[in-house]
Amino acid sequence: MKFFLFLLIFFSSLFGAKAVEVGQRFESSENCKVCHRRIVEEWSNSWHAKSHFEKDEYFKKSLEYVSRKTRKSLNAVKIQCATCHNPRISVTKTDEDYEIAAVMGLTDEDDPVNKAVNSKVISEGINCVVCHNIDKIHDEYDKSKRGINRVEWTPSGVMTGPFKDAKSPYHKIVSHEFMRSNPNKLCFVCHANDRSVKGVVFTDMESEYVGKQTCVSCHMGPKQKGVAATYRMYNGKAKMRMVRKHGFIGAHTPGLWKDALRLQLKKQKNRLLIKIKNPQPHNIPSGFGSREILVEVVYKKGNVTVGQKTISLTRHYIRKHKKVGIAHLAVKQSKDTSIKAHGEKTIRLPLIKGAESVEVTLYYRLVNDEVRSLLDLKEPIWSKKNFIAKSSLRL
Ligand code: HEC
Ligand code: HEC
Ligand code: HEC
Ligand code: HEC
Ligand code: HEC
Repeated sequence: MKFFLFLLIFFSSLFGAKAVEVGQRFESSENCKVCHRRIVEEWSNSWHAKSHFEKDEYFKKSLEYVSRKTRKSLNAVKIQCATCHNPRISVTKTDEDYEIAAVMGLTDEDDPVNKAVNSKVISEGINCVVCHNIDKIHDEYDKSKRGINRVEWTPSGVMTGPFKDAKSPYHKIVSHEFMRSNPNKLCFVCHANDRSVKGVVFTDMESEYVGKQTCVSCHMGPKQKGVAATYRMYNGKAKMRMVRKHGFIGAHTPGLWKDALRLQLKKQKNRLLIKIKNPQPHNIPSGFGSREILVEVVYKKGNVTVGQKTISLTRHYIRKHKKVGIAHLAVKQSKDTSIKAHGEKTIRLPLIKGAESVEVTLYYRLVNDEVRSLLDLKEPIWSKKNFIAKSSLRL
């Protein structure tokens, strides 16, 4: 008996994701507001706060699409995607019995799967008790194990943080190096090796990353003087510390795209050379599949447009039976057209007769036309062109 118990623990520690229940006092960020108001407000405007399927149209419709095309129940797919999008979920897989019951409409509210998917704990997506309850990151695991399957959780009510000397009246605290000197390790728990149901890796920030710059230095901003908590913990005072913002601003914030890439134009014989440089330490586009860079070229004679061309830098995904699909169902993907981390790409175009000047504008879009129409995405954010850079040249 003891031996079996040992085996069970051994194997579940090797392969299984162990859910740890989050106590009610900690499950909602509302409970942190009294002492961490600034942080809670910054986080709630971030897309980490929108990673739950009810809060992101693109995610929700992708889930439904995967469920339809793989003939799995919607809840089974929700659990699969929760690995990174909602990692505090209490059930990590569904079995055949559940699938049959789900198809026949025989599951009820009390079913552990249904309870897990609809629970309040996961409704906030990637919230405080995701990042700050990670106790261990298993970098020795296979690359394909991400999110829930790569971490161990602290017991409920124990927060991990950057400061070794912090004390709180509300929760216990432990400090880990991945909150201080190596935060990229924390980000790569989910921002790496995202793969389709067929094992096609469609994003991998970890392998494309160049240099040692931390993700937080850009996506949480520089360290600034401030308080981590407003509660007067230290001789009636809050401690002044060096802290960062919790906005995790990124691709969904249009203003940030300005100058994310650099643009240079040159005439060479009878050709136009468009050079795009990427000063960032990861590829652009990167992250999620089907993101897009648009290169709009306008040829002019005086003020009159004499020619126009738009080039799309994006990726296309082929699912079963050679049909067009989304990244998560990919059997095959088209060539990577992104601009490499700290790298550059040159596009060569013929000149147009009579053109005296040319104007080139770069834009970013969250979803390309193909996938936007496939999923019927309605919110304007998905089709919006975010300005990156513009340049012109006399020919
Ligand atoms: C009653 C006040 C209070 C509440 C409520 C509270 N905290 Fe704290 N928390 C503190 C204090 C005080 C500190 C230490 C601040 C310092 O040392 O500068 C702290 C520190 C932290 C740290 C940083 C630890 C470190 O080592 O750097 C994290 C993370 C944290 N809290 C998360 C949370 C979360 C998540 C919640 C809500 C579930 C929460 N706190 C609720 C008072 C509170
Ligand atoms: C995506 C991961 C992530 C989420 C979600 C997150 N944090 Fe943090 N938090 C971090 C990292 C990383 C740091 C360390 C930043 C640094 O100083 O380099 C940090 C630092 C802190 C600190 C120490 C003070 C500071 O600003 O450095 C507190 C307190 C804190 N977080 C509370 C919270 C609370 C409360 C929430 C929920 C509203 C939350 N965090 C959500 C990753 C996260
Ligand atoms: C538990 C998994 C997980 C961890 C850990 C995590 N992220 Fe994320 N992150 C996500 C998911 C999922 C999304 C997409 C949410 C959505 O769009 O619905 C996301 C989105 C983002 C975005 C895009 C925001 C935008 O507006 O486009 C940025 C930037 C980001 N994360 C940075 C970080 C950084 C920096 C860290 C490390 C401190 C980190 N993340 C840790 C899962 C994670
Ligand atoms: C030198 C600053 C810098 C660093 C360091 C950095 N990023 Fe970025 N990142 C950017 C910029 C600039 C963009 C594009 C503009 C924007 O965010 O709106 C971007 C975009 C992103 C996107 C959206 C990508 C897309 O094509 O849709 C994600 C996700 C992201 N970063 C995550 C990370 C993670 C995770 C790390 C660490 C492994 C990291 N970033 C490190 C500057 C940085
Ligand atoms: C390995 C971790 C991981 C898994 C598993 C995962 N995702 Fe994601 N997903 C991410 C990260 C990280 C981002 C943010 C990347 C970015 O913004 O560039 C993201 C972003 C997305 C986005 C873009 C959202 C937006 O607002 O632009 C969609 C759609 C999405 N995921 C769908 C899914 C679906 C459907 C599943 C399950 C079939 C799934 N994901 C499973 C990590 C994961």
